[in-house]
Order: sequence, then structure tokens, then C-alpha cells
Amino acid sequence: MFVYTLGLVAVVIFLGLKYIYSYWDRNGLPNIKPEIPFGNLRTLAEKKESFGIAINNLYLRSTERLVGVYLFFRPAILIRDPHLAKRIMLNDFQYFHDRGVYCNEERDPLSSNLFALPGQRWKNLRARLTPTFTSGQLRNMMPTFLDVGKKLMAQMEKLVERETVLEMRDVTSRFVLEIVASVFFGFEANCIENSDDPFRTTLRRVNGQVSFVNNIRSAGVFICPALLKITGLSSLPPELIKFVMELITYQIDHREKNKITRKDFIQLLIDLRREAQNNGEKMTVEQCAANVFLFYVAGAETSTATISFTLHELSHNPEVMTKLQQEIDEMLERNGGEITYENIKDMKYLDLCVKETLRKYPGLPILNRECTQDYRVPDSDVVILKVCR
Ligand code: HEM
Repeated sequence: MFVYTLGLVAVVIFLGLKYIYSYWDRNGLPNIKPEIPFGNLRTLAEKKESFGIAINNLYLRSTERLVGVYLFFRPAILIRDPHLAKRIMLNDFQYFHDRGVYCNEERDPLSSNLFALPGQRWKNLRARLTPTFTSGQLRNMMPTFLDVGKKLMAQMEKLVERETVLEMRDVTSRFVLEIVASVFFGFEANCIENSDDPFRTTLRRVNGQVSFVNNIRSAGVFICPALLKITGLSSLPPELIKFVMELITYQIDHREKNKITRKDFIQLLIDLRREAQNNGEKMTVEQCAANVFLFYVAGAETSTATISFTLHELSHNPEVMTKLQQEIDEMLERNGGEITYENIKDMKYLDLCVKETLRKYPGLPILNRECTQDYRVPDSDVVILKVCR
């Protein structure tokens, strides 16, 4: 009897998966043949390729404008036509404002950040946080960038004397992390000089743990949110949630109680919280923590990779390095050695170098979108149906 039941369950699962993986055939869209149970992401599941490379390889396997794929169990459309991609992200953005990543405000407050919130909730928070992205805010943060920069210079001078091979990615990562600690988390870390700095080591320990459960968490956040709904897992490991919550709660409490102000992101959130309270609204500490952590996730790895890849490319292109060095030297000479927000903005060749890095090594290689209203693809018979929840 047990064997029959097991056989029956296996047949039901198999037929269910066959049905899921016939979605694009049933909807008449050319698609890349999936494999049970990976869809088109076997190489990602086997850790042979990153998500970006896996999607790029799917892109290369088709010549269609739009091609149906399966992100594990989730049907998705890969837009291969750059004009259509641009249209979706700009002119027709009202159909595609959501990213379709995991977000659960009640059960998992740290997941409901600016990157993940859908529709009107995203719009509201984006309007509140927009002041963070202004050039004025960046100018305010310049003294921190310069202080951390000075520390980096001093450290580099010591390291150069040792005449050993340096892992520059590690150096840039410490530099970025020290800035993130200061401008987003609101305290001074010492990641550049101290390999055992608690901010760096704790984040590494609790954020870098590779395990089956953590793989499910990251696949659930970006690719298949249903995985987190079914398993009841949180989007981040509990230890990491505790660390971030404690850090942010302490910072907010300490400043509110002692009337301390500082020109950083936490201050902006504290001001927003007060403003919300005055308007009879609520902005919880969890909401603040979710967005501070998002800024760490969105800003630390992307910036570290961009700086490291730029240095890598410069070392392989000495004539470019010489030209860039010249631009830096001339800028310093013109301004009596002073680096300011405006001086950096004037450095056209540096800007081109960074843009070329981002073209070759995009910080975020995939722009995922969820369709929220049926969308007729221009110059075709294809209608992208809105996602049903
Ligand atoms: C070279 C560095 C960076 C790259 C390549 C990069 C790239 C991106 C990309 C491609 C997106 C998605 C855009 C979309 O879906 O339309 C994005 C969104 C975002 N990034 Fe960055 N980013 C970088 C640095 C940063 C930094 C330093 C921060 C922190 C201040 C940050 C915070 C964010 C946030 C909050 C969003 C979501 C915005 C929203 O939904 O309204 N990024 N970034």
C-alpha cells in the first residue's frame, strides 16, 4: 500500500511539474526547453554559474525578441530586444513598476524595503526617501568619504612598504564598508586598519554563511518568492535580523533620547519618523532597519565590485591608467590639492572609466519586473498577462 501511495504521489508531482513547464507552450510563446525541477536554472542550482551569467547564456540561446523561460518553477519572459526593454522601463513603466521579489511586511518586516515593496507602498516610501538620493545629501557625506579616504591612503602607504601581493578587492571592500557603517549605520567602524573590526567580522559571519537553508532564502527572495511562503522561512537568517535590528534600535534610541544629530542616513530616518508621527502616521524601527540594511546590500557589493573592476581594467590598460592619473593630478593642481564634490563631478575621463566598467561588469546584471496590468507588446500579437496572486 505504502509503495502505491508513494508511486501515486510521485506521478502527481511529475504531472504537476509537466503542467507548470508547459506554461509557455500553452500560451504560444517561443521558449527554452526547461528541465525538471530546475526550469532553466540548472547551472545556478549546481553553483556552476552566477544568476547573471546563467541569464546571459539563456539570452544567447535564442534569437527571438521575447523568449519564455522558467526561473525554477516560475515562468518568466526574457526580453531580448533592447528597445522593448527600454520602453518597459520608461514609457510603459506603469505596467511594470513592481520587481516581483519577496516582500512580507507583517511576517518578515526586514523584507519590506524600498527595493521590494510593490505599487503604491513603493511610491510612498520612495517619495519619503528621495531626499536621500539628492546631490545635497551626497555633498553632506563628502567629509566622511574624505576621512575614510585619508585612512585608506595611510594604510596603503604601509602596505606598499611590505612589497607583497595585495588582494585589492579586500582593500576596496573594507573602504566601502567603513563608509557604509558611517553614512548608513551611523557609527565609526575601523574596517580599514583592523581585520577583526566587529562590524566587518559579524556581517561576514552572519551574512556569508553558505547552507542549504540560506540558498533557499536567496532563491526565494529574488527568483521564487513562493519558496519562502511555502517553507515559512524568513528572507534573512535570524542571526542577521537580530544584529541589524539591535544596531539600528540602539542608534535611533540613543540619538532620540540624547538629542544627538549627525549628517547621515539614520538621521534622515529619525527626521522622517518624527515627521510621520506629527502627521499621525507611523514609521516603525523595523521599517528603518529594513531600509538601512537595503542600503548596505544595494550599496556595498555594487560599489566594491565597481571600484575593484575599474582598478583591474586600469592595470590591464596602462595607457588608460596614465591618462586617468593625469586627469587626477591636474584636478588636484587646479584646486590646491582639495577634493570636493564639484571637482569629482568635473572629472570626465574618470566618469568614462567607471561607465565602461559598469558596461563590462554590471553591478546588478538583471532588471526583473512583474507585469501588473495586461500589456500588449508593441509591434506584435503577444500580450503579457498580469501576474495573478
Ligand atoms: C556602482 C554601484 C551601484 C550600482 C551598479 C547600482 C545598480 C542599481 C540597479 C541596477 C538598480 C535597479 C534599478 C531598477 O530596477 O530599475 C538599483 C536600485 C537601487 N539601488 Fe543601486 N547601485 C549602485 C549603488 C548603490 C548605492 C551606493 C546605494 C545606496 C545608497 C544603492 C541603493 C539602491 C536602492 C535603494 C535601489 C532601489 C531604488 C528603488 O526601488 O526606488 N545603490 N541599483
